[in-house]
Amino acid sequence: MSTFRITRILPEDATDAALRADVLAGLTSSPRTLPPKWFYDARGSELFEEITALPEYYPTRAEREILAVRAGEIAAASGARTLVELGSGSSEKTRYLLDALTGLRAYVPVDVSESALDRAGRAIAAERPGLDVHALIADFTALELPDTPGPRLLAFLGGTIGNLLPAERSAFLASVRSALAPGDTLLLGTDLVKDEAVLVRAYDDAAGVTAAFDKNVLSVINRELDADFDLTAFDHVARWDAEREWIEMRLRSRTAQTVKVQALDLAVEFAAGEELRTEVSAKFREAGVRAELAAAGLEPVHWWTDREGRFALSLSTVR
Ligand code: AVJ
Repeated sequence: MSTFRITRILPEDATDAALRADVLAGLTSSPRTLPPKWFYDARGSELFEEITALPEYYPTRAEREILAVRAGEIAAASGARTLVELGSGSSEKTRYLLDALTGLRAYVPVDVSESALDRAGRAIAAERPGLDVHALIADFTALELPDTPGPRLLAFLGGTIGNLLPAERSAFLASVRSALAPGDTLLLGTDLVKDEAVLVRAYDDAAGVTAAFDKNVLSVINRELDADFDLTAFDHVARWDAEREWIEMRLRSRTAQTVKVQALDLAVEFAAGEELRTEVSAKFREAGVRAELAAAGLEPVHWWTDREGRFALSLSTVR
């Protein structure tokens, strides 16, 4: 028998309070910004799944290729009895790890999207007799892990660490380090620096799926905070910042317009052409990833890339 449990770490009203605080701070700052975690309501999670199948969006396929080739090595090196997956989403790539980890007792998917967790968590519990699935609705930057058997393998795939700004990244890696015990391991997916045109296309696809995903954050705010964003009045923009080596997604106001956010009693004036930053997606180099891991007290013991060298998975132990 397997079990499926879903626990909300943040109470529903805390999620609401966090959204309010983020939207208030982000829309009143200059330049205006919104944190990417608010893309992922049920519709946003669906749109992200569509992105992963786009011809231009290579990270998912590149990471899947590495997992398919290296799952056995990852399993052997970690010896994990618990797999914790941060930002698990649809858990599609997790299957390689679940299949390879022969001594696995518990799977702990952690995500902000309840709909994605419920669907993926239930399916995995149903397919894997004897596996305890303990899904957590949580923000991965606030790590609180359930008491499951060690050693643990903590997987953070997809390159989502790139959504954090450098200071947030070092705080996050430190919190990962402190959540792990000796013998535990971290499997980290990082998208790599490459040709600018390839990067920009991956975040501005021809079919417009990424544009719809980007604008979905406005729908979330309209619904949750009673705002009146007109989605047709903004254009999706993807830009490569060569100095900071990250992609930025932005929404550019087509005209001068005022947006009301009723729940915050806020009116936001956008100038024509003004841009709202909705996501940073940092791209990495091997030396940089190694240095950031080491600074957090983690020791990279494996570094694997896909054949084309577009994406990397690293496996680290606790120092
Ligand atoms: C889910 C954060 C890994 O940054 O590539 C995809 C999100 N944004 N297209 C990424 C995303 C636009 C994605 N992560």
